[in-house]
Amino acid sequence: LRTILVGPPGAGKGTQAPRIRDEFCVCHLATGDMLREQVAQKTPLGVEAKKIMDAGGLVSDDIMVGIIKDQLENNKACKNGIHGYAVLAAFSPSISTKPTDMRCESSFVLDGFPRTVPQAQKLDGMLESRKEKLDSVIQLLIDDQLLISRITGRLIHPPSGRTYHREFNPPKKSMVDDVSGEPLIQRSDDNVETLRKRLSAFHSQTGPVVEYYKNKGLWHGIDAAQSPSVVWDNLRKVFAGKQ
Ligand code: AP5
Ligand code: ZN
Repeated sequence: LRTILVGPPGAGKGTQAPRIRDEFCVCHLATGDMLREQVAQKTPLGVEAKKIMDAGGLVSDDIMVGIIKDQLENNKACKNGIHGYAVLAAFSPSISTKPTDMRCESSFVLDGFPRTVPQAQKLDGMLESRKEKLDSVIQLLIDDQLLISRITGRLIHPPSGRTYHREFNPPKKSMVDDVSGEPLIQRSDDNVETLRKRLSAFHSQTGPVVEYYKNKGLWHGIDAAQSPSVVWDNLRKVFAGKQ
């Protein structure tokens, strides 16, 4: 399975991608999470990226490729161990290590990438050189207006990537991760002003990516205003070829 989740901030990419990862044994590659890791580590890239992310803009295509490469070379991209091979191999065809679990070979769900047409073209080139193809590109469709409450109520547990919502999906104990007991935080770009800029970047820069994949016949649209479990059922229908 090689699939891409596309959608505006708060559409539910980070909520649904782990379900795909767990059900289909694929690697969840989230460029936003990778950037936030760089920010937390205060690397030079992280320092630069933070300014752009807090302003609601897009990090340059070159920097994105640099961060992805860094993640892959250190095999940090996938926290599922062997699943890391999938993306590692997709981006570094020279890697010769073979996974022991073949189901995971070159399978992934991309979340937050590609976000521009040049990124999509780069991804195509990398896959082509491995004679591999994308199965689907799934757009999570939702009105901008509904995203304000989703974004301003979101809480995250950065080490695991687990996401909660103050109202729609509250943690068992206030501001604490259900599994680890560690504190939850609010993303610094999760405010109304920055959201407006992120939405505008989505429409102007990622809109053409949607058209790019529509032209390739890979596009599927899903109503993302439904509850997480209904969205998940509809995602599975796409993978089962029923939608
Ligand atoms: P990124 O981290 O990718 O942010 P984003 O695209 O803005 O998406 P979000 O993470 O905000 O939303 P989501 O769809 O994952 O929603 P979630 O499932 O959490 O990128 C951040 C920044 O990094 C960018 O702005 C850019 O600067 C930079 N960047 C990243 N990748 C880049 C790239 N490739 N190129 C250039 N720059 C890049 O859900 C949101 C909330 O809603 C949660 O609280 C959740 O619990 C709740 N929720 C989810 N689904 C439902 C539902 N069905 N019903 C009710 N509530 C729900
Ligand atoms: Zn996300």
